Amino acid sequence: MTTDAKQRIMALRQRIESANHEYYENDAPSLTDSAYDSLVSELHEIEAMHPELATINPPLFASVNSPTQTVGGKRAARFAPYSHPTPMRSLANAFSHEEAHHFFSRMMEWSDARVTYAAELKLDGVALNAVYVGGTLKAAATRGDGETGEDVLSNAKTITNLPHFLDDAPAHLQVRGEVVMTYDDFATLNMHQSKTDSKIFANPRNAAAGSLRQLDSGITAARPLRFYAHGVVAENSPLFPTAHSAALDWLKVRGFSVAEPRLRTKDVDGLLNYHEKVQALRAKLPFSVDGVVYKVDDFSLQKKIGYVSRAPRFAVAHKFSAELALTHVQAIEIQVGRSGVLTPVARLAPVTVGGVVVANATLHNMDIVREKNVRVGDTVEVRRAGDVIPEIVCVKKSGGTAAWQPPLVCPSCEQAVHTNGKFLRCVNVACPERRRGQLIHFVSRNALDIEGVGGVLLEKLFAAGLVQMPSDLFALEKKDLLTLELIAEQSATNILAAIERGKQTTLPRLLIALGIPAVGEAAAVRLADFFGSLQALRRAPLEAFAFVTDIGTETAAGIRDFFTESANIEEIKQLQAVGVVWPERNSPGSEQKRTLMAFLTTMRSLKTVMPENTLHLIDNNLPLHGLGKNGTKKLVQTFADLPALATADEAALTIALDGNAALAQRVRMFFTVPHYRQLLDFLNDLGFVWGHKETPKLRLSGKTFVLTGTLSQPRSVVKQRIEKLGGVVTGSVSARTTYLLAGDNAGSKRAAAEKFQVTILTETDFEQLLWTTDEEPPTLL
Ligand code: IVH
Repeated sequence: MTTDAKQRIMALRQRIESANHEYYENDAPSLTDSAYDSLVSELHEIEAMHPELATINPPLFASVNSPTQTVGGKRAARFAPYSHPTPMRSLANAFSHEEAHHFFSRMMEWSDARVTYAAELKLDGVALNAVYVGGTLKAAATRGDGETGEDVLSNAKTITNLPHFLDDAPAHLQVRGEVVMTYDDFATLNMHQSKTDSKIFANPRNAAAGSLRQLDSGITAARPLRFYAHGVVAENSPLFPTAHSAALDWLKVRGFSVAEPRLRTKDVDGLLNYHEKVQALRAKLPFSVDGVVYKVDDFSLQKKIGYVSRAPRFAVAHKFSAELALTHVQAIEIQVGRSGVLTPVARLAPVTVGGVVVANATLHNMDIVREKNVRVGDTVEVRRAGDVIPEIVCVKKSGGTAAWQPPLVCPSCEQAVHTNGKFLRCVNVACPERRRGQLIHFVSRNALDIEGVGGVLLEKLFAAGLVQMPSDLFALEKKDLLTLELIAEQSATNILAAIERGKQTTLPRLLIALGIPAVGEAAAVRLADFFGSLQALRRAPLEAFAFVTDIGTETAAGIRDFFTESANIEEIKQLQAVGVVWPERNSPGSEQKRTLMAFLTTMRSLKTVMPENTLHLIDNNLPLHGLGKNGTKKLVQTFADLPALATADEAALTIALDGNAALAQRVRMFFTVPHYRQLLDFLNDLGFVWGHKETPKLRLSGKTFVLTGTLSQPRSVVKQRIEKLGGVVTGSVSARTTYLLAGDNAGSKRAAAEKFQVTILTETDFEQLLWTTDEEPPTLL
């Protein structure tokens, strides 16, 4: 018994230690908070039962005491969210002189006089907002999504060149800047890391980010971070400078570091010259710089020019061209994607490109491999631009080996490979590598978002044969989990609870989770909005997709193929059988009211996909061949709605079409072709009404939304959906706000909403609200 307990204690300690290490040192958490907490509480439990074991020090074990006895073992909560008083924006990019000139010409339109610009370095670090109230550093937060970042004040205070107090500062002042690590400091840090067997950072930016986001400020303090100011937001004050460059000078006087060289000029050629000079100087600069930034200098002109969505219109980052390096190809391997696509990947002798170690480069598809004629042993030029995936530019010197041959069988399941043009595919739905990829995708954040079930656990479940298909997850029992290494009672309970929660989902999430090719977040939302139910989507004729915004013919074909695969249908049935549920719409939504014009316009341009035997019924594969803009207009003017048009006889159609009997006959014919009748019936069943003349009163008219926290869809998509229904999205909560849509980690906006008694919606509430056809929002649970 004691031996068992001892072994379990050792295993738990080791796991917790390594999780601590990964979390604190590597900035790469290996466990979710809840999984971690359950390991710690289990350790506490066993130690309480066996106090004699609490202080044993097996030689195996790195720490002196049990992690239950040390601070490191008690992980503080992650960083608190911090809502920026004004959003932290990003910058638009210019990649060439031409694009920079475009920017200058746009700026000229805003001012009669010549515009003065401030030019400065674009540092490649971590953005930080340092907030001074009454001259004292009161808050410091990372950028996050621009609205809400992470509160890293205690860590930021350890940065030696970030002032804690300011003389004669405006009452409220935000200083924005970049936290960076110099190349020298980075090299020293990595040397130390390698000596202590700790994580090696890929580049100075990662090192800076990892160091700033330590939960233990002691570690941050030991890391050589520096802060360079590049912007201010100050309340109106007559004493404060009125231009950007002067504001940076003002900060410099008060002890801030500002990266040099800078330039202030009206001469745009001077700015481009500055760009060239800095680029030439780049390798000699102490820190990583990936371009220069041009900003309109005068604050009042900046204000006039304003912002476009997330970026100021008055500034631009003029990036440096991509960095290149030479290396050689060690192997060409095949990666199996979850959809079965086989991608050739070049394994490279590791080489540093633009501060990042590159060891792999995707070769995309067969055409690219052939075109670039990349072979094992070749010396190749590798390019990396910003955060773009590294790629092979060209072969510099052939290694003299034979041309690479695409595999005939899938490296994972050894079934024959199918070739579709330049793409290779494994079509075996039971292929282990595909299944593994699909499982990881299924639980991911935008899909079913099953927290605590990540890659590591899935690998184990998969390897143990406990889970093959996503639906198997829901059939897991505690005893299954307990057979896995390092999964104890409490973690098993937590995992099962998370899986159980995953059962309640939404249609867009389900569509993403199923892994239908080309159906990502935006497409899933549009499809769910349009079809309302999985059944309708499954039964949809191909032409129906032409009416869905932004869904192309390839995606439509992919969806149809997905639903003709019996294994997929089987899996959906299984998911339903194990209790996965999602709300569906059974009454028409606002999508369904459309104009007759919209119907005809879509039909006119639609290449048909009707069965061969009925093809003779139409011309040139176009259902309404010969119907032009004018004819369409005439039909819309004569017929009130689709039923009126569909039942009109040839005589009425001929009159409407100014006597064009041949065209009238074709239009008539269209409505008699069974294939199209089926399409119309299908759309009719979905509740589509084609005859709307006026804009319907939109369901969210007059409703004001504020978004906060981490949402499962990009904010831009959520915003679009609200606006489409007539609602408005604003940045801050006030008495006029109707709803606060709160994702995870909602911060101060939630408190504000409570204060103003604003209805707070979860994402599920929000989906329901959008799908209710009533004018009034439903009672929210
Ligand atoms: S100004 C309102 N100036 O680049 C404009 N940003 O790509 C906000 N950055 O998040 C930024 N050097 O963290 C500005 N001299 C500089 C910069 C700079 C680096 C970062 C900044 C921003 C990102 C946008």
